[in-house]
Amino acid sequence: MARITSGKPNAEDRPIETSLRPRCFDDFPGQNTVKDNLNIAIAAAKGRGEALDHILFYGPPGLGKTCLSHIIATEMGSNIRVTSGPAIERTGDLAAILTNLHKQDILFIDEIHRLNRAVEEILYPAMEDSALDIIIGKGPGAKSLRLNLPTFTLIGATTRFAMLSPPLRDRFGAVYHLDFYDQATIETILKRSSEILQIEANTEGLQEIARRARGTPRVANRLLKRVRDYAQVKADGRVTEAVAVEALARLEVDPIGLDELDRKVLSTIIDKFNGGPVGLETIAASISEESDAIMDIYEPYLLQLGFLERTPRGRVATPLAYEHLGRPNNRDKSAQQTMW
Ligand SMILES: Nc1ncnc2c1ncn2[C@@H]1O[C@H](COP(=O)(O)OP(=O)(O)OP(=O)(O)O)[C@@H](O)[C@H]1O
Ligand SMILES: [Mg+2]
Repeated sequence: MARITSGKPNAEDRPIETSLRPRCFDDFPGQNTVKDNLNIAIAAAKGRGEALDHILFYGPPGLGKTCLSHIIATEMGSNIRVTSGPAIERTGDLAAILTNLHKQDILFIDEIHRLNRAVEEILYPAMEDSALDIIIGKGPGAKSLRLNLPTFTLIGATTRFAMLSPPLRDRFGAVYHLDFYDQATIETILKRSSEILQIEANTEGLQEIARRARGTPRVANRLLKRVRDYAQVKADGRVTEAVAVEALARLEVDPIGLDELDRKVLSTIIDKFNGGPVGLETIAASISEESDAIMDIYEPYLLQLGFLERTPRGRVATPLAYEHLGRPNNRDKSAQQTMW
């Protein structure tokens, strides 16, 4: 089932995401350092009439990696070709894409950590020397042929920086980490969204939604839509604080944005494993979830809240997590030390 608080996109998001997607930097609040650096790089590349350096965006889902890539293309006045790691199965697929690029085009590869090794190796000379090496023939008679490619910009996006191979990582001229948005920025985003969607909402109503949006624009927009539905059916259509509180409680999104599954992750660590440390796979098995989902969706926000810590021996629930779940924290410090 699609979780309302997941940063990952679901089918419901698609129609509104298109209308809400910021088209230029001015419509894209937050991530100021990233935007400032990009603006300088874009102005410099344009001034020289060159392609932009290759860029890698990484960070949790729903924070604007895809958005920013499209904005960069618009600002550069370049064409953007969109594909993804899993979509490029064979080296020939990538070779075809590369040979069809024009000078200064942008190639956006989403989920770039999922490129297979052989495909990745085609990318190295393409990124470094704008060259495509093709092997003709097989065995001892095989010949390598080098084709020149137009200079292009690769923009890669990933939720898993650690899964990227070092040679690929090193070939990006700029690497940007997108972090969760602060409350005020999420409010600004919600204000813009409510105007576009013509939702009548007061400041307190939007603030309440922002508090529970996990610092994630995609989640914020999704919650706004659900609260609007509730306001329409159960109230007078206006999104107020009271309406937002009721609607979100009904969706089991708690006052800081945690849902049933986040709480389950925490309570499992606390109740079943005495607060940890416990391995990710063990947690995943206990709550019947994929460990990938835990790593991508739940964990980054729980880490950000300071509810969870990563240690070499596994995940540990912090006193803040005990407090939030209302569990007595009777883990004895000295007992813990001997245990470790
Ligand atoms: N800074 C922002 N301002 C306004 N809206 C934003 C911002 N960032 C993201 N959004 C909204 O959130 C949605 C998701 O953003 P985007 O698709 O760029 O995320 P992503 O990081 O690429 O996620 P994924 O990892 O799932 O691919 C966008 O459609 C847009 O509506
Ligand atoms: Mg994306």
